[in-house]
Amino acid sequence: METAQLTPSIPEFDDKRQAEFETRFIRALNESGMLQLVSLGHRTGLFNHMADGELVTCHELARRSQLNERYVREWLGGLTVSGVVEHDADTMSYRLPAEHSSLLTDNGDANLAVFAQYIPLLGQVENDVLDSFHHGKGVPYAKFHRFHEVMAEDSSQTVLPALFDAILPLAPELTDRLESGIRVLDLGCGRGLALMKMAERFPASRIEGYDLSQDAIAWARQHASQRGLNNVTFEIRDLSDFDATADVAKFDFVTTFDAIHDQAKPLNLLQGIHRTLKPNGVFLAQDIHSSSHHHHDREHPLGTLLYTISIMHCMSVSLAQGGEGLGTMWGRERARDYFTRAGFSTIEVNQLPHDIQNDYWVLRP
Ligand SMILES: C[S@@+](CC[C@H](N)C(=O)[O-])C[C@H]1O[C@@H](n2cnc3c(N)ncnc32)[C@H](O)[C@@H]1O
Repeated sequence: METAQLTPSIPEFDDKRQAEFETRFIRALNESGMLQLVSLGHRTGLFNHMADGELVTCHELARRSQLNERYVREWLGGLTVSGVVEHDADTMSYRLPAEHSSLLTDNGDANLAVFAQYIPLLGQVENDVLDSFHHGKGVPYAKFHRFHEVMAEDSSQTVLPALFDAILPLAPELTDRLESGIRVLDLGCGRGLALMKMAERFPASRIEGYDLSQDAIAWARQHASQRGLNNVTFEIRDLSDFDATADVAKFDFVTTFDAIHDQAKPLNLLQGIHRTLKPNGVFLAQDIHSSSHHHHDREHPLGTLLYTISIMHCMSVSLAQGGEGLGTMWGRERARDYFTRAGFSTIEVNQLPHDIQNDYWVLRP
């Protein structure tokens, strides 16, 4: 979207504009409260106990969920006022309507309650981010409790359900090659759920995941072993010098899921991917959909939230590693420039209908 040229003089005070902003602000305060209550409903399991759409009393809901009744009543009060839950005053009972249940529980295609968790998760580090506004040194991963848990829940919504039907087919030859058996690498793999899913579906392929986080890799190893997978391995690895340390021409297929922009040294990572791919290899990168110019993102459906996530997490964790702090909203233009500088000769970008947050890049050496 083009922005209008601003006049240099200060415009006249517009009372209507002020009133509209005040209304919007009050609505936003309420909606932010709703998100916090939704996060609590997800984590306590309360939504799941209401997922059948039947009327339920507070007492019964507290009994079913084995939670403190006073807290459950206050939570129901907030969600009744916000319109998420319906209340029948005669029977003093509550209902989660089917339309809301399909978006806030595992009843539907996507559980949006997962994403509400980012608000309290990011709020944990406000003091550290505040300090960073002064010293600029960022906030380390260690400060974010539950980050990898929530991230894995997030990518379980955006990556896993679409992996075989929409994401892998973006490179048309991939599924056949995976079936016949190739070497696959996922970088910044977190808890590695996408890799485990590929390992199960393509037993002839050998799959590796690298990530900086000891906790995420320990979780991935334990769950891969519980699932009886012996064609997937996970390694704790700092990818900041991957340009120099990557094995040359080892992999047929490399992936990154939401894992370039928050790296310490994203260009080094990309140069390493180019180095470690075989000449006929494919690199598939899911990363945030945005423009590199913030004035073009006024219409972005998640633009404000993604800039918030950038300050409160992605940019800050990169800076805390002594990195460049690229930021969540690095954008297509800059991404294309980085991919070109890393040596990729074919660069295609796609959007998928299930995912309003990300672009899907298909790159070849
Ligand atoms: C936004 S998360 C994405 C995780 C996973 N791909 C997913 O989609 O669930 C980014 C990942 O990059 C990892 N990471 C950040 N800096 C790294 C570094 N220098 N070396 C290796 N991994 C790094 C983080 O630990 C984190 O798991």
